[in-house]
Amino acid sequence: MDTEIRPCSPLSFFLLFFLFSSLNIQHCGATDSISLGQSLSGNQTIVSKEGKFELGFFTPGNSRNYYIGIWYKTIPVQTVVWVANRATPISNTSSAELKISEDGKLVLLNISKIPVWSSNSTPSTSNSTVAVLLDTGNLVIRNGSNTTIWQSFDHPTDTWMPGGWLGVNKITEEYQSMTSWENRENPAPGPFAHSMDPDGSNQFVLLWNGSEIYWSGGLWNGQYFTAVPSTRESTPFNFTFVDNKQRKYAMYTIRDSSFITRCVIESSGLLKQLYWLNGAQEWQAIFTQPSAQCDVYSLCGAFGICDQKSSNICRCSYGFEPASMEEWEFNVWKSGCVRKTSLRCSNKSSTGGEGDRFVEMTNMRLPANPQNLTVGSARDCEQACLNSCSCNAYAYVSGCSIWNGDIRNLQQLYDGDSAAGTLHLRLSASDFPASMSSVEFLGSRVFSSD
Ligand SMILES: *[C@@H]1O[C@H](CO)[C@@H](O)[C@H](O)[C@H]1NC(C)=O
Ligand SMILES: *[C@@H]1O[C@H](CO)[C@@H](O)[C@H](O)[C@H]1NC(C)=O
Ligand SMILES: *[C@@H]1O[C@H](CO)[C@@H](O)[C@H](O)[C@H]1NC(C)=O
Ligand SMILES: *[C@@H]1O[C@H](CO)[C@@H](O)[C@H](O)[C@H]1NC(C)=O
Ligand SMILES: *[C@@H]1O[C@H](CO)[C@@H](O)[C@H](O)[C@H]1NC(C)=O
Ligand SMILES: *[C@@H]1O[C@H](CO)[C@@H](O)[C@H](O)[C@H]1NC(C)=O
Ligand SMILES: *[C@@H]1O[C@H](CO)[C@@H](O)[C@H](O)[C@H]1NC(C)=O
Ligand SMILES: *[C@@H]1O[C@H](CO)[C@@H](O)[C@H](O)[C@H]1NC(C)=O
Ligand SMILES: *[C@@H]1O[C@H](CO)[C@@H](O)[C@H](O)[C@H]1NC(C)=O
Ligand SMILES: *[C@@H]1O[C@H](CO)[C@@H](O)[C@H](O)[C@H]1NC(C)=O
Repeated sequence: MDTEIRPCSPLSFFLLFFLFSSLNIQHCGATDSISLGQSLSGNQTIVSKEGKFELGFFTPGNSRNYYIGIWYKTIPVQTVVWVANRATPISNTSSAELKISEDGKLVLLNISKIPVWSSNSTPSTSNSTVAVLLDTGNLVIRNGSNTTIWQSFDHPTDTWMPGGWLGVNKITEEYQSMTSWENRENPAPGPFAHSMDPDGSNQFVLLWNGSEIYWSGGLWNGQYFTAVPSTRESTPFNFTFVDNKQRKYAMYTIRDSSFITRCVIESSGLLKQLYWLNGAQEWQAIFTQPSAQCDVYSLCGAFGICDQKSSNICRCSYGFEPASMEEWEFNVWKSGCVRKTSLRCSNKSSTGGEGDRFVEMTNMRLPANPQNLTVGSARDCEQACLNSCSCNAYAYVSGCSIWNGDIRNLQQLYDGDSAAGTLHLRLSASDFPASMSSVEFLGSRVFSSD
């Protein structure tokens, strides 16, 4: 049974009194807030004053895990805009509690009364500390003098809400950035983020693993971000950019408050501005970046190949298999591909068997950051790669390039693409077809290096 706490009409007061008199929340007017001595557990929720947002435990999709989240109360499709314990789920909510601790923090206790998440706000000993869910979707904690000491808008998960901000606190050097969910059933932080440029320039970028930039929104020119059309003045959005001694951040508001919209970084690494279509009862994207999914850095993981024209956008290189089938079922490829057979490396002579060989992959976007060698021929380039155990591929175009370690960002290109090159990928000899010296495989020609 849904034990949502409703506004204090006499009827709901009696319902509350008779049905839930054993529950911790009994105060009238506490419908949108949690005060000291109160707690949320099981199916209980709080609802913002005008009924726009709801906070409580939820389970994403078919997951068996529970998380504290904030979602739209007015939308039938479960749409979570913020998660508290995104990496520390709870398996049983009936004895878990979200409450204000003695030192004025919001804490989530599991069944063993161990805190699994905390707001980490400045300790406040006041007994009138209160957590309030606002109609913007912001959860704020206020102390005894009604000062906001913590708010969820300062700690976004994967969503940037109208009225919320993204940026950096220059004093604490803490970023307010969005980080993708691991997959649609797991809100733990994934590899993709939308953040202020770590180099300090006045623009927002999409980042993989906190370091590789794969899209830039363009510099703030005083009125808008140059590469983001929806930040211009003639749109339903009103963007502001603030740069002062303490903070640097961007904020947006909506001119028409009946327009329901949010900005999200998806598990696929795509940044989307979505709006709710009342007629169709679904979310529709008005802005998506990058526009080609294969431009998401390391979308297919190590040794994965991105193919924009295929219905399965990611596949493994020849001689490799998915590192985690579970990930692939969620259309997430973070862990990429692993070798079916490990390399012999330099053990060729000691075992007397065959060494490693190279599969020729044509029409490939070559990986970034090669090591360039000054050798005279393709054969010397191949030999240089064989001589190094960490070398996984080489290409010989105008000169010799080799790649050590994981190879990311491989993309299948097609005839006529000027960026296309031929990559020679190192494989164990046993992963080559025994009876043939050459075989066509999805644009890769397999042949012996001898
Ligand atoms: C919560 O509600 C669901 C369905 O409304 C019910 O199956 C479940 O038992 C309830 N859980 C608790 C802890 O009350
Ligand atoms: C959750 O905890 C309650 C109370 O301790 C217990 O009765 C219930 O069986 C537990 N549910 C699950 C699914 O473990
Ligand atoms: C409660 O959380 C603690 C710390 O994460 C963990 O060690 C303990 O197993 C949890 N208890 C239950 C019943 O999940
Ligand atoms: C808060 O503390 C003050 C003084 O210690 C006390 O008078 C007051 O009743 C307390 N309020 C609540 C809600 O517990
Ligand atoms: C509330 O926080 C403000 C700012 O940190 C502080 O100045 C004030 O004393 C606090 N009030 C109480 C009652 O703790
Ligand atoms: C506390 O602050 C909020 C927002 O600043 C305001 O709406 C509210 O009226 C204040 N409450 C009290 C009791 O001062
Ligand atoms: C991701 O970043 C971390 C920290 O900067 C680094 O240690 C790690 O090697 C990176 N992972 C990959 C696969 O590049
Ligand atoms: C845009 O938002 C800013 C800050 O919220 C506000 O000062 C300004 O008046 C708004 N502009 C328009 C045209 O609504
Ligand atoms: C080479 O052989 C040695 C001893 O047989 C073994 O310890 C080592 O792991 C092998 N190296 C590779 C890359 O297979
Ligand atoms: C290595 O070679 C590639 C292709 O010829 C070139 O684009 C790149 O700048 C070179 N890198 C270095 C470090 O010289």
